[in-house]
Amino acid sequence: MKNYSLYSSLFFIGLLSPFEGIAKTVSVSSPDEAITISISDEKHPNYQVTFNNETVITSSKLGMLFKNTHGFSDGFKIAEVSQKQVDSHWTLPWGERENVSDKHNELLLTFTTSRDSANKYKVRFRAFNDGIGFRYEVPKQKGLAHVEITNELTEFSLANAKQSTAWWIPARGWNRYEYTYNTTNVESVDRAHTPFTFKLPSGTHLSIHEAALVDYAAMTLNQKRPGTLKADLTPWSDGSLVKTTANFKSPWRTIQISKDAVGLLNSNLILNLNEPNKLGDVSWVEPGKYVGIWWGMHIETNTWGSGDKHGATTSETMRYMDFAAEHGFSGVLVEGWNKGWDGAWFSNGDVFNFTKSYDDFDIEKISQYGAKKGVRLIGHHETSGSVTNYRNQMSDAYALYQKHGVNQIKTGYVADGGNIKRIDEDGIVRKEWHDGQFMVNEYLHSVTEAAKHKISINTHEPIKATGLRRTYPNWIAREGARGQEFNAWGTPPNPPEHTAILPFTRLLAGPMDFTPGIFDMSFNGLGSDTNRPQTTLAKQLALYVVLYSPIQMAADLPKNYQANMPAFQFIKDVPTDWHESIAIAGEVGDYVAFARQERNGSDWFVGALTDENAREITLKLDFLEKGKRYQAQIYRDGKKAEWVNNPYDLIIENKAVKSSDSITLPLATSGGAAIRFKALD
Ligand code: NOJ
Ligand code: CA
Repeated sequence: MKNYSLYSSLFFIGLLSPFEGIAKTVSVSSPDEAITISISDEKHPNYQVTFNNETVITSSKLGMLFKNTHGFSDGFKIAEVSQKQVDSHWTLPWGERENVSDKHNELLLTFTTSRDSANKYKVRFRAFNDGIGFRYEVPKQKGLAHVEITNELTEFSLANAKQSTAWWIPARGWNRYEYTYNTTNVESVDRAHTPFTFKLPSGTHLSIHEAALVDYAAMTLNQKRPGTLKADLTPWSDGSLVKTTANFKSPWRTIQISKDAVGLLNSNLILNLNEPNKLGDVSWVEPGKYVGIWWGMHIETNTWGSGDKHGATTSETMRYMDFAAEHGFSGVLVEGWNKGWDGAWFSNGDVFNFTKSYDDFDIEKISQYGAKKGVRLIGHHETSGSVTNYRNQMSDAYALYQKHGVNQIKTGYVADGGNIKRIDEDGIVRKEWHDGQFMVNEYLHSVTEAAKHKISINTHEPIKATGLRRTYPNWIAREGARGQEFNAWGTPPNPPEHTAILPFTRLLAGPMDFTPGIFDMSFNGLGSDTNRPQTTLAKQLALYVVLYSPIQMAADLPKNYQANMPAFQFIKDVPTDWHESIAIAGEVGDYVAFARQERNGSDWFVGALTDENAREITLKLDFLEKGKRYQAQIYRDGKKAEWVNNPYDLIIENKAVKSSDSITLPLATSGGAAIRFKALD
């Protein structure tokens, strides 16, 4: 098998004379040889990518520029090439699968130029069967000490942008990552967040993203010229992009590549490009399901602040703990327990105190009650983006929760994009982006501090996921897209296609705390133009399997579950930690179906959902173990179900099935199906 090649008049010897005046091209292919990356130093360092002999990325620039010193751009030549083949396996302590295979071919290139300082830059390329990654590695050298990146030159050039369809959300907007998705041709994109997913006319699907975003600014994509998406790093308040010191490494720039949409969903590329677990024993990180004092605030039957409608009271929390214990939930999230919610918290996070609770919330009594019932309090810290205020209290706040047996905290950074409040060393207030280098570091700091207290973090208004859960398994989930809350008050609420796009975009980055399971769609008056989940009830159940997260909320009020125990049974049964996950059908924005097998058990679960169009899908059950019998417990849309006027029409039926069978599921408009395959022998 020939995975590496070098085209030039020079015979490959590992070390090349860089100034021969002959442009060099080196290449590396994926283990299955379907993907090839070719890197050249003609004019400027650049790369291109082919997939099944189709050029999917045409010649695209590499490089970066610095303030006050030379960067890495035109005139650099390939001087050294080294290669490596990796075929290994590793395990996830929790995840959508237990065993991950990491099989790739690597090429490490050293570029150099004739000047006598700052003349050495490395780029490491990896080709996997499910895509590629490359990162810059900038060694310590003469002429490079403190470095300020003013421009990362990385480009992603597409051959056929006009004929390619992209699913994308705008970057650098006030609402961070919380936008409805645009479906356009690639040429109509201006500046987009990643994962940026697109489909070529040939049917090949690609998604550009990044892995291991540490101590660097997030990469957004800016279409500078038609068809060329350029890395556009989110700046600091002073305009600089990244402040660092040589030796440093950039995050991996990644492109997931598949012949079809479903293939993107079965990729491990992002995780494989992250460092192994740095926390050691993480048995204290507990996947699970939770309920909470939450939805009531969003539909305005409760308040976060004190008063008659205060949600976070001792008695209400104990009532939720009773409900959780009775139905097998491990946690109760309580928002609005701490001082600061009265008044203008939305625009001023400095009011929050993370160790003082309201008088009607007795944390001691609650945690003792929970311990007796086997239910944990889940902590909550809303910062409203005042991160210095949070950092100053962080260690005391985590210690308080640890003392009370809390091992998971939901954090929140509600503030407009570009409006994170940081007080610098001189006492001056600075306003930062949620995805600039400062906040990238701040989010990770909260995760590593929490780890010292054996606490996991579920970040809302987060930095996008880039696979760091592998390295820090206590970063258990995050939001980072429009979640269920938008159905309570968003303008507009999430459209029916939203959850048929999320798996192919946001969820490629990692787990999302979407908070599914709204059973009462009429909290605000039923109708398409008012706020409500724009789904059927069956689709709310399907979300538990489709939108992967190791923690899943049953987001509605307990009384709405008590009113529909037969449907609630699926939420009680569905696990959140999986031995294996397989995407089995789907097209971006239309429909999707996943099959997942529970960890430490034999049952399989399927979730399938559709956009605004009703459709029938037939799924082969060949993921089931051969020779085993299963009882399929099916929750699906009834004959008359449709999301606008008849969302509750749900059929629950049981069927005996085996792996050679198929199952046909009629999905209503914005409908879905959820199935538990209970192993019988
Ligand atoms: C936004 C979060 O996404 C939501 O879940 C939370 O209830 C509010 N912030 C208040 O913290
Ligand atoms: Ca949010």
